[in-house]
Parts: sequence; C-alpha cells; structure tokens
Amino acid sequence: MSGIRRKVIRVLEGESLAVPPVWLMRQAGRYLPEYRETRARVGSFLDLCYSPEHAVEVTLQPIRRYGFDAAILFSDILVIPDALKRNVRFTEGHGPELDPIDEDGIRALKADGVLTHLAPVMETVRRLRAELPEETTLLGFCGAPWTVATYMIAGHGTPDQAPARLFAYQHPQAFRHLLSILAEISADYLVAQIDAGADAVQIFDSWAGVLGEEEFAAFAVEPVARIIASVKSRRPKARVIAFAKGAGYMLKNYRSGTGADAIGLDWSVPLSFAAELQREGPIQGNLDPMRVVAGGKALEHGIDAILEHLAQGPLIFNLGHGITPQADPEHVKMLVKRVRGWKG
Ligand code: CP3
Repeated sequence: MSGIRRKVIRVLEGESLAVPPVWLMRQAGRYLPEYRETRARVGSFLDLCYSPEHAVEVTLQPIRRYGFDAAILFSDILVIPDALKRNVRFTEGHGPELDPIDEDGIRALKADGVLTHLAPVMETVRRLRAELPEETTLLGFCGAPWTVATYMIAGHGTPDQAPARLFAYQHPQAFRHLLSILAEISADYLVAQIDAGADAVQIFDSWAGVLGEEEFAAFAVEPVARIIASVKSRRPKARVIAFAKGAGYMLKNYRSGTGADAIGLDWSVPLSFAAELQREGPIQGNLDPMRVVAGGKALEHGIDAILEHLAQGPLIFNLGHGITPQADPEHVKMLVKRVRGWKG
C-alpha cells in the first residue's frame, strides 16, 4: 500500500514530530546475540554483506526486537573498495584490511563492473522493502569519499588517518582523482539503492574530524556535495542524511555546503550548537554510545537532555556514532521506551 508517510521521511522533509523517530547507527551488530549467531553461521563478514538472505535477516533483527522507526541496510562502506578489487578482508579482532593503494593503483582503478559486483546488495534492499513493516523507513548508505579513501590508502583503520592526510599533501592530484572516482561510484550506488527501494540514504564521513579547515572543504564537503547533487539531479525526491563525525564548528556550513537534507551530529556537539544547526533544518543524533553501555542514570540523563533541547524541532533520535558490541540489549529497550514516552 502506498500513501503512508514514514516518520523519518517526514522529519527529513522538515516536520517536527511530537515524539521523534528513533533508530541507532550500527543497530544490527555484535551486541545482539542473534546477530552473533547468524554471523558465526555465515562465516566471513563480506559473505554476510553479499548474501541477500542473511543480510535481510540481520537487518530485520533489531527491527523485530525494538521496532525502530528505520532499518538500515546491512552492508559496509568498504564494499566499494572491495568492488574496486582492493582485496578487502575482515579478520577477527583486526578490523578491516585492504591492499594499501598508491598513485599507480589509483590510476589503474576501473569503475565499470562495480554495480554488477554490488548487485546482491540491491537484491537485499528489494527484499527488505517487501518484508519490512509498512511504517518502517528503509535507509541505504555509503561511506563518504574521504572516509573510504582513508582505509584504501592506509590499508587498515588508524587513530588519526595520518597516512591519508600525508598522501593528500604529497600526491594532491592522485588524491583528488581518488576522491572523484569514489564520489562518482557512490552516487551511482546510492541511486541504485534508491531504485531498489531505499526511502532515504545516509553518507557516513566517520573520519571528517581529523581534517583541517581547507581540507574539510576540499575533501569532506566538496565530494559529498557532488554525490548529493548527482543523486538529486537523477532522483529529485531522494532524501539524504550526511554524517561528518567530529567536524565540530565546521558543521556550521555543512548542510548548505553539501545540500544534505539532514545532518548527523556526534556526541561532542554541544546541544546549544545542535539547536542552532536545527534552525536551518533537520538533525540526527547525538547520544554518546557509552551511555548505552553504562545504562541507568547516565542513559536516562543523556536521552532527556537531547529531547529537552531538540525535540521541539525536526529531530531523528540516534546515537552520536555506532552502538558498540558491549552495549546491553536491555539498555537499548529502555532507550526506545524512554524516547517514545517523551511528553514535550
Ligand atoms: O548500522 C548498521 O547496522 C548497518 C551496517 C553497517 C556496518 N558498517 C556493519 C558492520 C554500517 C552502516 C557500517 C558503516 C561503516 N563501516 C563505517 C561508517 C560508520 C562508522 O561506524 O564509523 C565504517 C568506518 C566502516 C568500516 C568498518 N567496518 C570497520 C572500521 C569495521 C571494524 C570495526 C568493527 O566494528 O568491527 C567494520 C566491520 C563491521 N561493519 C561490523 C559490522 C556489524 C563488525 C564485523 C563483524 O561482525 O565481525
């Protein structure tokens, strides 16, 4: 049945709801025993991402348990480098590993075949839209070019992305080329997810916070703006959330600079500044994931502070970054109950 206006979409279109919709970044993951069970059965993490049957199952797990207002496609931002044949591996306890890319590697990158490689992800999206409750928003996603590039250059996660920052200074042309290829592929990938049934998409720039002012404009804002312009020129009704973690004061011009409908905020963003950003449009965030691990008063107080400051405007309640494996599933239940019980 069509005609239902899903809550997350209503907020993305600027509405302020009496009770904000809620979902959590990384809501399908290792804090859930049922995820760990499926993951152990399937074997490799990438096999899970490329198996529509199992990816649908783990996407639905947190929806069944908590009835979140949005489901986020189960996949990873590193499927793009995988599709670009950068030999992506996820090994237990190590995080992601890839073959580090150099100038020659960047020159040799070929975008054709990427969407064919990612066809199983689009199949997952199609099945999800058919299986999800009518009222649940389905979010697709991709990594922002800067964040994806940091993993491609270092070959693994690092605490401050020094290898990518250095590479960008030493090889500016090759670096720009890499960002530009990633932007182009990501735009096509998001359009394909939307065509398969995603109601809206989120762009994750998890490492935006390590960039200086000029670099933020050139490596974080500009490529994301290109993705959003490309997606919206082809799918004018597409709604986009852009999440630049750690960007602090630079978030001030992030919405206008990128063309995002909503901006995601991490927990370091002061609620007074969040309210200022909200005057220009919808925001999403920003509970510290450690409050979900702690539970009790720390959890309740964090939730209430966000709702008191921000629930009168267009807000999607979320964490300030992904939920961690140590989070207690019972604490998540309390979180959803408390947000839903809000009487502003
Ligand atoms: O939110 C969801 O539930 C949807 C699934 C999702 C995953 N990764 C699953 C995942 C999403 C949206 C992502 C995004 C992602 N992946 C980001 C951006 C958001 C963020 O958290 O900063 C980044 C930087 C990655 C890259 C990545 N993937 C890293 C650094 C790691 C290792 C760290 C970790 O948490 O293990 C992953 C692996 C990963 N992606 C897991 C999950 C559930 C854990 C792997 C496992 O099950 O063994």
